[in-house]
Amino acid sequence: MEYKTKGMPFRRLGPSGLRVPLFSLGGWLTIGKTVVGDPVKDIIKTAFETGINMIDTAEAYADGKSEEEIGRVIKELGIRRTDLVITTKIFWGVRHESPNDTGLSRKHIIEGTKECLSRLQMDYVDVIFAHRPDSTVPMEEVVRAFNYVVEQGWAFYWATSEWSAREIEEAHHVASKFGLIGPIAEQCEHNMFHRERPEKEYKPIYEKYGTGTTVFSALAGGLLTGKYNDGIPEGSRYATHSFLKNTVKKLQQPEGKEKIRKVRELTELAKGLPYFTLFSPSDLIVVGAELNATPGALAIAWVAKNPNTSTVILGASTPQQVLDNLRALELLPKLTPAIRKT
Ligand SMILES: NC(=O)c1ccc[n+]([C@@H]2O[C@H](COP(=O)([O-])OP(=O)(O)OC[C@H]3O[C@@H](n4cnc5c(N)ncnc54)[C@H](OP(=O)(O)O)[C@@H]3O)[C@@H](O)[C@H]2O)c1
Repeated sequence: MEYKTKGMPFRRLGPSGLRVPLFSLGGWLTIGKTVVGDPVKDIIKTAFETGINMIDTAEAYADGKSEEEIGRVIKELGIRRTDLVITTKIFWGVRHESPNDTGLSRKHIIEGTKECLSRLQMDYVDVIFAHRPDSTVPMEEVVRAFNYVVEQGWAFYWATSEWSAREIEEAHHVASKFGLIGPIAEQCEHNMFHRERPEKEYKPIYEKYGTGTTVFSALAGGLLTGKYNDGIPEGSRYATHSFLKNTVKKLQQPEGKEKIRKVRELTELAKGLPYFTLFSPSDLIVVGAELNATPGALAIAWVAKNPNTSTVILGASTPQQVLDNLRALELLPKLTPAIRKT
């Protein structure tokens, strides 16, 4: 399959030269888990045909099966490796038998990376993420181990996920002290319900290191599509994964009900109003034209519009969801930059 950008905007991933598509595809809870075999191919093919050439996975997703499925499908579709940006993540491990099966020791970073590549049937990934910080390992060991991975050519860059600003700062400090490469990006949650860390805590990190973000859960796991407004649809994420039962329970509580109320409000706003305030008077997004959009597409466009967002990793359990979510692209020119009064 030949790659065509199909109008997909590209941004540099943080301070690096790597160009990433504004929308990428992720495999958590879907690829290798609820979606296996040919349906995985359908999703990746649809994404690739619409300009998404970046796929995010992790050693732990579906206990390694996510990487296996992605590797298999890329081979079967005959996609040129250089056309793709592949990212994976190390920390949670696949087996949990020995003490070194997880974490960020030099041992697990190196062994874990080699196993990822084997499951993906690839010689290298473009970016390898530390899926979480590991306070039990000296930062120098972590930074040196990721630098070793890069020097071996197993990854071109390394990055962090769900690290605090202080931890990212420490990694850069260690890297500069020893003449090593620091993390280029942070994979963080960012959506209309989760804003504090990506918008406030990381601000100095964006300014000082030019850190990029590969944003996850822009739809808050599907909540912002409005699909949970009137209950839990059969086959949906909330219905399928038992570890989310507390999240489901919370929807019946005041905090959850308030979220649903906001999603309903967002739905109305997405349909037609020429401007809206986003949940608080401090945020006003001025819209140049009637949107005629879904709340999901608007929620995704809102994250994409943030100048610190390098790529929004879309989660999708069907090809149609990929297409629906990419409607966010059409909304981008209609959203002027958020005007922040505070
Ligand atoms: N680094 C980390 O710690 C971390 C954590 C989480 C995610 N991630 C990455 O980010 C990616 C995206 O995260 P996410 O899956 O939480 O993103 P999300 O976009 O918030 O949620 C995606 C889920 O919402 C539902 N959905 C998506 N589009 C829809 C549509 N148009 N209509 C109705 N339902 C729709 C689907 O679930 P159902 O159809 O099953 O209901 C889909 O799997 C992951 O795949 C992973 O690569 C990273």
